Amino acid sequence: MQPHKASSVTPLLLIFLHCLAAQVSSLDTLKQGDQLNSSSQLVSANRVFTLGFYTPQDTNNSYLAAWYTDGSYTPVWIGNREKPIPRNTNPILTIDNTGKLIITHGRGGESVEIYASESGRNLSATLLNTGNFVVTEMSSNGSAGEILWQSFDYPTDTLLPGMKLGVNHRTGRNWTLSSWFDESDPASGAFTLEWDPSVRRLLVRRRGVIYWTSGEMKDYYLENFRIKEFQNIIPPDAYNLNYNFSNVTSDGEEYFMYTLLKVPNWAPNNRKVISGWKLDYQGDLYDNDRPMIARPSLCYGYNTEGDAVYTGCERWEQPTCRNARQTFVLRSGGFRRVNGGVANSVYDRNSSLSLSDCRNICWNDCQCVAYMHGDGCEYWRGKNLEFEQSLDGSAIRQYVLDTAPSGKGWNEETCKDHPCCIEYNSAAYLGHGSVHSEGQAIAVKLLSRQSGQGLLEFKTELILISKLQHVNLVKLLGFCIHGDDKMIIYDYMHNKSLDFFLFSPSKREQLDWQKRFNIIEGTAQGLLYLHKYSRLKIIHRDLKPSNILLDENMNPKISDFGLARIFKQDACEANTNRRVGTYGYMAPEYAMQGIFSVKSDVYSFGVLVFEIVSGRKNNSFHEIEGPLSLVEYAWELWRKDSALELMDPTLRDSCVIDQLRRCIHIGLLCVENHAADRPTIEDVVLMLKNEMTNLPLPKSPAFITRNSVLEGVEKSTPEKLSANEFTLSELGGR
Ligand SMILES: *[C@@H]1O[C@H](CO)[C@@H](O)[C@H](O)[C@H]1NC(C)=O
Ligand SMILES: *[C@@H]1O[C@H](CO)[C@@H](O)[C@H](O)[C@H]1NC(C)=O
Ligand SMILES: *[C@@H]1O[C@H](CO)[C@@H](O)[C@H](O)[C@H]1NC(C)=O
Ligand SMILES: *[C@@H]1O[C@H](CO)[C@@H](O)[C@H](O)[C@H]1NC(C)=O
Ligand SMILES: *[C@@H]1O[C@H](CO)[C@@H](O)[C@H](O)[C@H]1NC(C)=O
Ligand SMILES: *[C@@H]1O[C@H](CO)[C@@H](O)[C@H](O)[C@H]1NC(C)=O
Ligand SMILES: *[C@@H]1O[C@H](CO)[C@@H](O)[C@H](O)[C@H]1NC(C)=O
Ligand SMILES: *[C@@H]1O[C@H](CO)[C@@H](O)[C@H](O)[C@H]1NC(C)=O
Ligand SMILES: *[C@@H]1O[C@H](CO)[C@@H](O)[C@H](O)[C@H]1NC(C)=O
Ligand SMILES: *[C@@H]1O[C@H](CO)[C@@H](O)[C@H](O)[C@H]1NC(C)=O
Repeated sequence: MQPHKASSVTPLLLIFLHCLAAQVSSLDTLKQGDQLNSSSQLVSANRVFTLGFYTPQDTNNSYLAAWYTDGSYTPVWIGNREKPIPRNTNPILTIDNTGKLIITHGRGGESVEIYASESGRNLSATLLNTGNFVVTEMSSNGSAGEILWQSFDYPTDTLLPGMKLGVNHRTGRNWTLSSWFDESDPASGAFTLEWDPSVRRLLVRRRGVIYWTSGEMKDYYLENFRIKEFQNIIPPDAYNLNYNFSNVTSDGEEYFMYTLLKVPNWAPNNRKVISGWKLDYQGDLYDNDRPMIARPSLCYGYNTEGDAVYTGCERWEQPTCRNARQTFVLRSGGFRRVNGGVANSVYDRNSSLSLSDCRNICWNDCQCVAYMHGDGCEYWRGKNLEFEQSLDGSAIRQYVLDTAPSGKGWNEETCKDHPCCIEYNSAAYLGHGSVHSEGQAIAVKLLSRQSGQGLLEFKTELILISKLQHVNLVKLLGFCIHGDDKMIIYDYMHNKSLDFFLFSPSKREQLDWQKRFNIIEGTAQGLLYLHKYSRLKIIHRDLKPSNILLDENMNPKISDFGLARIFKQDACEANTNRRVGTYGYMAPEYAMQGIFSVKSDVYSFGVLVFEIVSGRKNNSFHEIEGPLSLVEYAWELWRKDSALELMDPTLRDSCVIDQLRRCIHIGLLCVENHAADRPTIEDVVLMLKNEMTNLPLPKSPAFITRNSVLEGVEKSTPEKLSANEFTLSELGGR
């Protein structure tokens, strides 16, 4: 879904062309008689946009296009999306002396007309700073006259700030985005984005069917704008800070428009001023490097509510054989027949069918279990088929019908037949285990019998927590309740947890520096989401390597978050042998006085960083270096200006020294004695990204001995824990 690189233009060539373009009278303007061929471009005065001939990857088609100059070649406008030009036919954009803006190509004088004025007008065409390509008439004194034609009136798949989306009732013109046909074909595809002036909302349709709406615009606010970046989640109230929406009703025109209000601080440096909403060929709407705006590709016609992050899916009629837990998931592998299963594949070579058409057809065919898109659609149909995932890179990738365990919470009735409950009942395993549920691997965790919490409260909490979604949090799929026993079902993590690798002499080597840094960064992002953007403002309180799970690509996923919420501390529980956090990771104010805040998680994060960097458990120093904790040891090394000695020797070859030093520095800031001196996790994220260049010098950290912790815990009384806060208790069976 990311931009395609124009294989015809290399950066070196571009530099060269900037000099050449002097042939065109001005860099941003094409005048009558000027010619733009496949190796020359117009560049807007602010250099943000470039216009020229563009060839999508792996094709031989050439298009007149405007794209970002930044090197990504993301096209924002295509002039001839339905009329590709063979790229070896020497296309030339020119304004001829009959007053036409035209692309000529080939020997036979074939042409594609972009704009034709009344004959004889002296025109010029300019690429403006906004990305708008405008045709004006030159006056005799050389100044540009009124706009006769503009690319903003012919949107492709991208809405730039200042572009209109809506209708002009006088001219009958509609400003609508329509997606590309597929990744490399800019022809109009299945999805459109339009403005519905009667309700004042944005709509995404797929072949006419409304898949998604923004919700009615109120006070310049669009309700279903849920913005998600690939890694970061920004606060839900931030969208109004970033975009200024306007609906305009005047002069027979009704349209929507947006501008960028201010540069959000999470925007990468090089794209600060560039915004453009792109409707991709799967129907998703996103803004450059900014967060995803909407995910209509996740809409299946059920969710009016949607998931926690993306909302706005509409309802439409469904075949009775499908249900809301089913989706298609891209997987590698193949089908196996079970119990006399039958299977056949069907190939529909209609090349007008796009990927989403294939999905739609398969969805509506009760026998269909998978589809693929190529030149047309290919379907798998049959009964009693089991999908076998393959990790072999050459395995066929296809969209397979997948039935997820309900994320909305199970009741005893639906739980009864579920594998987790069956296994549980037969006592085949206890606590953290993994089972396969309907083809999907899940992990099950048994919670203690006495949570001291009502069932309704427990369910409510879990439903709230199951709505939290972030790439660095393990996904909670559902739960079972059996009398007093409660089970939580998670996504299964293939690579167990961080401690499994980090503290095993034979496995540690598999964690090279790049993986470790990725784990540090990901954990920080997950924590940031919990602290700041989850709306529940969750303090984890038990962050440690065994709670950092690793997926098949070794991406970190924080687990057990929110459990502290579920097990609310009450007086009866306080003095039992339940753990309160874990020694070695507890901040001093928490260990000693029971005071905790987001900064106690930051402290634990600091200890975690030292462990990741050194590959040693906090307590592993006891024997070797005398009675030193890892924190003390790190500080001692830092003071002696030999912090790098903390490095795990197995990192010698893969280590990026600057990053490592920075991590240790950040770790020391995180474990400072006074909570107020510690950075927030948001600061930590910026520091890790090197966006905060002047890190403060660390002060002497908090040293806690096991004795003082125990003392502290004994002294801490339940009253010191605020009534609404909670503590993570010992989980049954772990
Ligand atoms: C494009 O035009 C320039 C200037 O007329 C010319 O030097 C160059 O060879 C042309 N390139 C192609 C690919 O035709
Ligand atoms: C593009 O043209 C080249 C050379 O004629 C040919 O080998 C290649 O298969 C073509 N690619 C496509 C996608 O048509
Ligand atoms: C150029 O001519 C147009 C009308 O043809 C006029 O509106 C404009 O003011 C003139 N500009 C200058 C700089 O003389
Ligand atoms: C078009 O206008 C420009 C600017 O006034 C002038 O230089 C050029 O000669 C004109 N061309 C024709 C064909 O009149
Ligand atoms: C523009 O939209 C209106 C209402 O949305 C529709 O009635 C009309 O046919 C559309 N016109 C064009 C040219 O697509
Ligand atoms: C938002 O845009 C409208 C019109 O596009 C403009 O009048 C208004 O001043 C803008 N608001 C802010 C806060 O920039
Ligand atoms: C948007 O529409 C509402 C309702 O028609 C209207 O009250 C408001 O003034 C409009 N805003 C703009 C900027 O036109
Ligand atoms: C091919 O698919 C398109 C889009 O669904 C449809 O309109 C067309 O009728 C189909 N053509 C054939 C020959 O089935
Ligand atoms: C992580 O899990 C995947 C899938 O199970 C496996 O292929 C990979 O080797 C594991 N990585 C490590 C470092 O063990
Ligand atoms: C780390 O280990 C040392 C030595 O076993 C211990 O005294 C200390 O309490 C542990 N925790 C921290 C945070 O240092």
